[in-house]
Amino acid sequence: MIILKSERDILSMRPACSVASTVLDEVSAFIRPGLTTKEIDLFAADRIKNHGAKSAFLGYRKYPCNICISVNEQVVHGLANERRVGFGDIVSLDVGVAYNGFIGDTARTVAVGGCGVLAQKLMDVAEKALYEGIAQAIPGKRVTDISRAIQKYVENSRFNVVREFVGHGVGRSMHEEPQVPNYVDSKANQKLQPGMTLAIEPMVNAGAAAVKVLNDGWTVVTQDGSLSAHFEHTVLVTESEPEILTWPAKMPSSLKVP
Ligand code: MF3
Ligand code: CO
Ligand code: CO
Repeated sequence: MIILKSERDILSMRPACSVASTVLDEVSAFIRPGLTTKEIDLFAADRIKNHGAKSAFLGYRKYPCNICISVNEQVVHGLANERRVGFGDIVSLDVGVAYNGFIGDTARTVAVGGCGVLAQKLMDVAEKALYEGIAQAIPGKRVTDISRAIQKYVENSRFNVVREFVGHGVGRSMHEEPQVPNYVDSKANQKLQPGMTLAIEPMVNAGAAAVKVLNDGWTVVTQDGSLSAHFEHTVLVTESEPEILTWPAKMPSSLKVP
């Protein structure tokens, strides 16, 4: 069952999403060569606490970290540890917070100091694919319209979308219906309606689409060792254009869609 959010729900959910987006900004700005992923995770924990929120990930199915930090060939769900990030690495940061009774979920991939042209292209394509998907989040369209737009953009750019992990409805719970795949799947074809809140989140590999989970039970990596990028926003379907709830709070509301 898809849970439609009332206007009142949205008044509570907007701040949750703002906190998630602010924390993501703060962590992105903090990243520099030489930091361990553990130090990055602890910084994120501190920021989340500072905003009066809670990590939506810590303890979720026993996930042991505050945010997901996935380096280079790691796709999602990377675990913070003593590994140091270095110049040229790309780091996917996924922030989920609980605040006001709602979840905000947002992710982006950033370069540490700088990166190669392939990595930059990959990040650009993954981010653009996210906005291509978001643009389809309007009433009358279907989940597959989002999926198709993302897949088309990525594959036209000669990269590949991950199949095993998908976007999702989000609200009082982190993972609600519907699933929002980043590829066309006829099973995920619900009609979009105002009041739906969706986490749209393309995971894009520079090489093949295939992924595997490491022995730690969490870290998802590309099977061929190629780089991967991940961008995510929590989006509200409205009567007119989609509202990106995890857009940084400082942006004027008239600039919702870049
Ligand atoms: N944030 C992820 C998502 O976007 C879910 C992370 S689950 C965790 O859906 F357990 F790894 F935290
Ligand atoms: Co996320
Ligand atoms: Co998500």
